[in-house]
Amino acid sequence: MQRRPLIAGNWKMNGLAAHLEEVDAIAALAAEKPTVDVALFLPATLIARAVPRAGVVAIGGQDVHGETHGAFTGNVSAAMLHDVGATAVLVGHSERRTYHGETSPDVAIKAAQGHAHGLSVVLCVGEDAAVRNEGKAEQWVSDQLLASLPADADPEWLTIAYEPIWAIGTGVIPTIDEIAAMHGALRSALRGVIGDKADTMRILYGGSVTGDNAPDILGLDDVDGALVGGASLTAAKFAPIIAAA
Ligand code: 13P
Repeated sequence: MQRRPLIAGNWKMNGLAAHLEEVDAIAALAAEKPTVDVALFLPATLIARAVPRAGVVAIGGQDVHGETHGAFTGNVSAAMLHDVGATAVLVGHSERRTYHGETSPDVAIKAAQGHAHGLSVVLCVGEDAAVRNEGKAEQWVSDQLLASLPADADPEWLTIAYEPIWAIGTGVIPTIDEIAAMHGALRSALRGVIGDKADTMRILYGGSVTGDNAPDILGLDDVDGALVGGASLTAAKFAPIIAAA
């Protein structure tokens, strides 16, 4: 099954106006690789300024509130993201789940909000080291995915990202076999809910992806791209990952 690869960068809480030059450079890289989708999940403060410079790169927010509007100080709604030109949003990142107490049902609501406002959604799942060490990772993450999945999940607008928490920012990644097994397990869990649409749903890998390990990871059948943190902050480090897709 041919799925169009997506290489997405997540800048997390990094980036000031000066870093918009990296968006320009990443836009140039993306224009040279028309077989691959490229996206950048930027701090909310950069989105409006990045959009006119992004070319074919989709610009997204890193989180969205589950309600449409209201008394939620500090939060951003899906309509606000859309209003400033974002076309995508990340939901359920482990840093949101861990530091902001977001539950899987919260994540499902956020995903539905993003879709309702015309955004494509990348929904993150992943286990911590304790779950991995107990040998339960595939079942645990499959359960987390199904609990986080919005009711009308469809590959037209939804992408899954598997990000083992212990691999984020650590330089440690699962073995290639472990990644293959997890992505296979997640696709079969999806098939149980959305049937044949599971075959066209993209499942990204994230966690310490670099230019060095990207060819092996992206070469796996069930890996349809990458969600990249640190190595997406500069075009120089992001370039070999886009090239490997
Ligand atoms: P790193 O690529 O820095 O490990 O971060 C991964 C991540 O959390 C992307 O969302």
